Amino acid sequence: MDPQSIGTALVEWFRVHHRTMPWRTNSTIYHRLVSEFMLQQTQVATVIPYFNRWIEKFPTLEALAMAPENDVAKAWEGLGYYARARNLHKTAQILVSQRRSFLGLWPQTISEWEKLPGVGHYTARALASIAQNQPIAVIDGNVIRVLCRLNAITQPFNSKDQALRFLDPLAQRYLPPDQSSAYNEAIMELGALICKPGTPLCGECPIANACLGYQNNLDLPHIPKFKKPTYVKKQIERIFLIQNDALLLHRASSKRLHRIYELPAHDIFPAGCLKEISFKQIGQIRRSIAKEHITEIIFEARDTTDNYLPENTTYIPLNQIHAITLSGPHRKWLNDCLKKHL
Ligand code: ADE
Repeated sequence: MDPQSIGTALVEWFRVHHRTMPWRTNSTIYHRLVSEFMLQQTQVATVIPYFNRWIEKFPTLEALAMAPENDVAKAWEGLGYYARARNLHKTAQILVSQRRSFLGLWPQTISEWEKLPGVGHYTARALASIAQNQPIAVIDGNVIRVLCRLNAITQPFNSKDQALRFLDPLAQRYLPPDQSSAYNEAIMELGALICKPGTPLCGECPIANACLGYQNNLDLPHIPKFKKPTYVKKQIERIFLIQNDALLLHRASSKRLHRIYELPAHDIFPAGCLKEISFKQIGQIRRSIAKEHITEIIFEARDTTDNYLPENTTYIPLNQIHAITLSGPHRKWLNDCLKKHL
């Protein structure tokens, strides 16, 4: 099978077997812009309810551009990587202001897409191809797996970036030029449903007869190979402190958590400030972010010396906590702590 026939076979399979996703059902460029931002670091199943609520709240690019920043952050609460929400909001504002002067056009090339905040190498290609059907092959984690198995590529990669660079020229060969949108979603969908990370379902694969990994009986569950990253262990102690029916929260200044509230970390209180306080542990959570395994321990504090307030912290009345935007798992931790506290 020549590469473009493999691409065409994937498209035919996709037309029958694709999963329903709201951005596929109503596939406008705006819907694709929102879904591609949400899907950047998040699984399809998690994104779907957020996407549906988002479109109800901000049905058009213009509605999103005009929305207050807090509404946008709130609609993203729980999806994580909040810079994505800020960037999507800014991108909508830039596009709307350009439209006023450039008569309603969307960006037309990868480099025009890449000028927008939050639109990187992958998203620019996904939008140009999936949303606009331009003949560009897109590579994500699923596609890396399919291409490596299909071509029996067994060498280990140091990183996803290295795999992307290696596979980029190969990926383009499979693309049926006039069916770029369907092809790119097809190869992603094959990776998600058939050519799975564990044991692939080769018996159901539409291109098994062209797959060198399958034909040569290679150890497919271990293709592709990635060298293991080294994880760093980190511990963060957090303070749960209620005064006059208000909870002390920290508004982080980091890029990742800009304008998002968290329980304050112990180490933002200067030495001595918590000395007189008796505090007890009320929770322990483990999570992994990027290459860090983080253990977070929550202590309930009773007071601070002379009502000291660390920088960027503020007391939020308990009856208003539902309305602010909290960093991902903090909503759940807070609800657990509040239950214990009452
Ligand atoms: N991940 C990123 N874009 C996607 C899409 N259009 N379909 C499924 N998964 C995706």
